[in-house]
Amino acid sequence: MTVRCAAMRLGSAAVAFALLGSLPACSARRSEPVAGPLPITTSQTEQGQKLFMLHCQQCHPGGEAGLGPALNNKPLPSFLITFQVRHGLGAMPAFSEDEITASQLDDILAYLQALRSHG
Ligand code: HEC
Repeated sequence: MTVRCAAMRLGSAAVAFALLGSLPACSARRSEPVAGPLPITTSQTEQGQKLFMLHCQQCHPGGEAGLGPALNNKPLPSFLITFQVRHGLGAMPAFSEDEITASQLDDILAYLQALRSHG
């Protein structure tokens, strides 16, 4: 599975299409065209999605890998996401409570949880 997912990251459309049918656990299968739009069921998830679009989308597009790694393909614990957001790491900036309040971060966590269980 690791090898197959690594192949996906090569970014070759041909490889992606050839493998798509046999890749049940790859993040690419969770994208909107395959899994359908994410059903936004609570106002917290809706709020989280807006905040994610504002602060995170540019590097984790739709929860998938961009400049940053995919967030929708592994069970990242909340404390780890919180730590990463507050402290940053490598190319990822830190976000203070002035930028994202504690309750806004809860909303983002709820959105990420919904993304992960989708597809
Ligand atoms: C400027 C680009 C950028 C932005 C904006 C950004 N990230 Fe990241 N993110 C990264 C990069 C790059 C990494 C990988 C850091 C490393 O390991 O060196 C990362 C890693 C992460 C990880 C750890 C993933 C893992 O597999 O361990 C989480 C969780 C995360 N980001 C969440 C967020 C959230 C939530 C936001 C919005 C509040 C956000 N990021 C905004 C670039 C970004």
